[in-house]
Amino acid sequence: MTDLCVELCGVKLPTPLVLASGIWGCCAETLVRAAREGAGAVTAKSCSLEPRVGHPNPTVLPWSGGLINAVGLSNPGAPAERDVLRTARGELAQLGVPLIASVYGHSVEGFWEAVRLIAQAEPDFIELNISCPNVESEFGKPFALDPDAAGRVTAAARAVYAGKLLVKLSPNAPEIVAVARAVAAAGADGLTAVNTLGPGMLIDVRARRPVLANRVGGISGPALHPVAVRCVYELAGALDLPIIGTGGVRSGEDALRMVMAGATAVGVGSALCGEGIGVFRRILNELEGLMTEEGIDHLADVRGCAHV
Ligand SMILES: Cc1cc2nc3c(=O)[nH]c(=O)nc-3n(C[C@H](O)[C@H](O)[C@H](O)COP(=O)(O)O)c2cc1C
Repeated sequence: MTDLCVELCGVKLPTPLVLASGIWGCCAETLVRAAREGAGAVTAKSCSLEPRVGHPNPTVLPWSGGLINAVGLSNPGAPAERDVLRTARGELAQLGVPLIASVYGHSVEGFWEAVRLIAQAEPDFIELNISCPNVESEFGKPFALDPDAAGRVTAAARAVYAGKLLVKLSPNAPEIVAVARAVAAAGADGLTAVNTLGPGMLIDVRARRPVLANRVGGISGPALHPVAVRCVYELAGALDLPIIGTGGVRSGEDALRMVMAGATAVGVGSALCGEGIGVFRRILNELEGLMTEEGIDHLADVRGCAHV
């Protein structure tokens, strides 16, 4: 009998699939809908202390390798987001699906103040988004590229939040393991690996202009998948922290690959854009079929088994 339940930092997830931040969960209703449709945990859109409009349109475009986006962290600000999370939390608790709040800041102080406010909504986890590549022109290099900076942000959040703390890492970090070690030492309970790759650029050859108004944006979807798997593999080989393996997962096979690289749970983002919310059930059915074929009862039995 296959059992799809997993445990992330001691919290039970009814399925291993986690709605990734920013793709679908912008209000309480969409977060709850994802949970009803098979997500085992749901991550809200990243929020900052103050509201942000984000970048002008076009901000998201599909291409043959997945998506390129420069949404620019548009959000209503932490006080309004706290209300969204409070509303979602009650219904999600009834479904037994944990809520992951996501916090972004462009300074260490911005992070901890936003974390302090968001903690009042009592989510099951807070994820620190230190890895968005789309706001570099405004705020400089993401904290996730530098172990010291990543550690400082994590320590500041840890000082004001006693709950489960995840840190979202970047595939662009020259040494992702060094960053992970720094956030682990600063008190992270788990990692989300990874955020988008890049920034990259696509050009509309008829308009003779970059397709995004911001010109550059993060790469997600299938083009990111092998990079994300490598990041998870490296992290799982070096540290004993649970990982939400995220990046280009769109099939049961992709999800199992992430687990075999060492992930405890598996994030799904861009795959929702083409297919819609039914993507969770399809991936779960494929995963269950593959586990039966391979004689795998629990994902924990094969977690990290690709390490040689
Ligand atoms: C349109 C869009 C918006 C995103 N917004 C956020 C965000 O607000 N916070 C965050 O941590 N990640 C954000 N991400 C990154 C995703 O959560 C995820 O880490 C990344 O897209 C890789 O997974 P995927 O290939 O399954 O999409 C966004 C990605 C996309 C495509």
